[in-house]
Amino acid sequence: MRILGTGSFLPKKIVTNAMLSEFLDTSDEWIVTRTGIHSRHVISDESLEDMGTQAALRALQDAGLQASDIDYFVCSNVVSNWVTPSMSCIIAGRIGLQCPCIDINCACPGFIFALDIVENRYKAGNRGKALIVCVESPTRMCDWTDRSTCVLFGDGAGAVVLGEGDNILGVRLNSQPDPTKLWERRPMESTPYFTGDDSQKSLQMRGREVFKFAVGASTTEVEALLSDLSLTKDDVSYYMIHQANLRIIDAIKRFLGEDDSKFPTNIADHGNSSSASCPILLDECNKRGLFKEGDLLVFSAFGAGLLSGAAALRW
Ligand code: ACO
Repeated sequence: MRILGTGSFLPKKIVTNAMLSEFLDTSDEWIVTRTGIHSRHVISDESLEDMGTQAALRALQDAGLQASDIDYFVCSNVVSNWVTPSMSCIIAGRIGLQCPCIDINCACPGFIFALDIVENRYKAGNRGKALIVCVESPTRMCDWTDRSTCVLFGDGAGAVVLGEGDNILGVRLNSQPDPTKLWERRPMESTPYFTGDDSQKSLQMRGREVFKFAVGASTTEVEALLSDLSLTKDDVSYYMIHQANLRIIDAIKRFLGEDDSKFPTNIADHGNSSSASCPILLDECNKRGLFKEGDLLVFSAFGAGLLSGAAALRW
């Protein structure tokens, strides 16, 4: 497939590090040094479906298409107020889509998993156009008295519309299943019979282990993907890395031995918006005219699961 249009939406409330240090034992200096984050957009009176709808409409507009042109819709979302119907069905109803809709929960690499799904459907003969929306509010997953997690995240939505083309050159997906390094649990409804563990726990993270996993998975998969495609690092125009932490991106850059100028970032004023981070970055780079036709973009993302993925596409 080929990307025909991109869109994104960020909540209007901006929370700076100074605002966090009013109620947390933290500082701008600690957060900037350890993460590269200065501020983040945080959901206030918006809903997830508002954000996803706006991002989808902007991507459709960028592609010059209508909702009726879309034949398949994948929504990546980790958590929302809706248990059922799915977030994809809710957004589809808002924008007037009438095609199959599915949700995936692949945490931060959700955009790359969604690309894999639409590309493989296309290769299997489903030649229609696809919409991907990644909409996330990790700030609603954190305990806001826990300074080790809540300072890291921001909310938002990113979307792409894809159609006929052969610009997705390859995708690699991976997992190292482990529910102890990055997880959250919430209770379900009680019944007269259920006697199991139904405890609630906000987002828990073993930061250093996640850091090591992220750098290892990203560098290994990017190198393997390029080798699979008989490409070299010299062919890569831009690395579109999941915006989790500037130190993670710097470490990946160092391991790959690549130049700063190939790594666009927006972590400084966005924080980590889970699966929305890659398509938001893509949309912002697209809208500011960074890419030229033929550029090779290599995506890499990693997160809870632990899941990771890399994708190469020609702009
Ligand atoms: N402000 C001030 N001090 C803090 C803060 C804070 N916000 N958070 C933690 N600290 C303190 C800790 O309590 C600890 O204090 P102690 O030494 O007195 O016990 C000290 O800082 C060092 O804590 P560490 O956790 O060892 O700090 P580290 O250098 O590892 O940085 C961080 C923590 C930023 C979370 C880092 O481990 C990291 O970035 N990990 C990857 C996390 C990540 O990006 N996850 C997301 C990827 S997956 C996804 O996107 C969901």
